[in-house]
Amino acid sequence: MPLLIKNGQIVTPSETYVADIYCEDQTISAIGKNLSATAPNTTTIDASGKYVFPGFIDPHVHIYLPFMGTYSKDTYDTASKACLVGGTTTLIEMICPPKSDEPLAAFELWKGKAEGKSACDFTFHMGVTRMDALAESQLKEIVRAGVASFKIFLAYKGAFAVDDSELYHTLRLAKSLGVITTAHCENAELVAELQKQLLAEGKTGPEWHEPSRPESVEAEGVHHLMTFAKMHDAHTYIVHTSCEPAVRAALEAKARGVKVWIETLIQYLLVDKTHAEQKNFEGAKFVMSPPLRDKRNQPFLWDGLASGAISTLATDHAPFDFKGQKEMGRNDFTKIPNGIPSLEDRVNLFFTHGVKTGRIDLHRFVDAVSTQAAKLFGLFPRKGTIQLGADADLVVYDPNFKGTISAKTHLMNIDYNAFEGMKIEGRPHVVTVRGQVAAKDGKFVGDTKRGQFLKREPTHF
Ligand code: URP
Ligand code: ZN
Ligand code: ZN
Repeated sequence: MPLLIKNGQIVTPSETYVADIYCEDQTISAIGKNLSATAPNTTTIDASGKYVFPGFIDPHVHIYLPFMGTYSKDTYDTASKACLVGGTTTLIEMICPPKSDEPLAAFELWKGKAEGKSACDFTFHMGVTRMDALAESQLKEIVRAGVASFKIFLAYKGAFAVDDSELYHTLRLAKSLGVITTAHCENAELVAELQKQLLAEGKTGPEWHEPSRPESVEAEGVHHLMTFAKMHDAHTYIVHTSCEPAVRAALEAKARGVKVWIETLIQYLLVDKTHAEQKNFEGAKFVMSPPLRDKRNQPFLWDGLASGAISTLATDHAPFDFKGQKEMGRNDFTKIPNGIPSLEDRVNLFFTHGVKTGRIDLHRFVDAVSTQAAKLFGLFPRKGTIQLGADADLVVYDPNFKGTISAKTHLMNIDYNAFEGMKIEGRPHVVTVRGQVAAKDGKFVGDTKRGQFLKREPTHF
């Protein structure tokens, strides 16, 4: 069914103007003034007084995640509905296989969890948790199948972490295939030693999670990755950068010619380590890695986003219930499943605290939550912009909406919300996936099986 969006203020990283958008066959077919519907069954949306943004892209999510002795709570059914009401129309999920699993089997497993079950489009970063001859040949096959990015962990000793030899060979392979490597940067050995020491001192509560992985340990991880990336001239993307020293380590490497881009998360901008220090184990809700940091880092991260030094704002959505899951670590903080879900609220919170306060201009806003991810991960210009021929993934955004975040009303399949009680100013009025309305005023109204796997070509040679 054709779609006509009338009189919205269209915003991309480079332009803003008022116009109509006409969409047919899932893509944008006309942009201009005074467009009228040519087909009788056209859906018409009045966007006067509202922004029209390209559908938001979350470049770092976990929907299916076997981790720390349990499984993340969302499915593609619940996660895609939740992200769509928040305006996110494309998810890039991390495939995180245990070291014992073969990459191809993992790729098929993760794809099977999404195909035919997602309301939004999706693709993956292929986690490289082992690197041997078999893995190498299967990774090449996965890239040919349309996955143009890898994910490696320097953290999580004994689980996902790669050693230096695996790191070296992964980056070499990535360079030869033209794929970008996304990386979780924390020194796994230092974390393991600090955890042991803290537990031996009887420090078992969630407030000790941050001291077990201090800022210097994250910065060392970044520096380590940068040294290896430089050897191969490999393209790298540092996920969930939480603090000034880690960002500075990446920027210093960039100045030395390392090809690196930086991601931060909405959590690091709005909640801090004091949240993980709350009494009665409440702090467990705020345990993730890298940890929430001292508040002094927040202005630095906001400035980095405003200037573009930090390219993207993601969620690292990793949903574990408080009851029964976070509680696994009641007597030992190292057993609290890591993750703070935020898929649904990322953009509304960023708009409220970034755009509405004047910290982030509208162009950088769109760039950070949509366009940069599309460009870095081989989705542009199909996704991440509003132009002729692009997928009609559009967000008609009401900047005057006022609301309050709560687990009572969210769609994520999780029993708490880390932003509980926070006010938002701004929310998607209408969200479309390839020309079909999927969400309206906080409600999912779409087709639960409409999402497609997005094949991507390598671009980072
Ligand atoms: O705490 C986190 N970030 N959990 C998800 C796994 C990861 O490290 O991305
Ligand atoms: Zn991570
Ligand atoms: Zn993650």
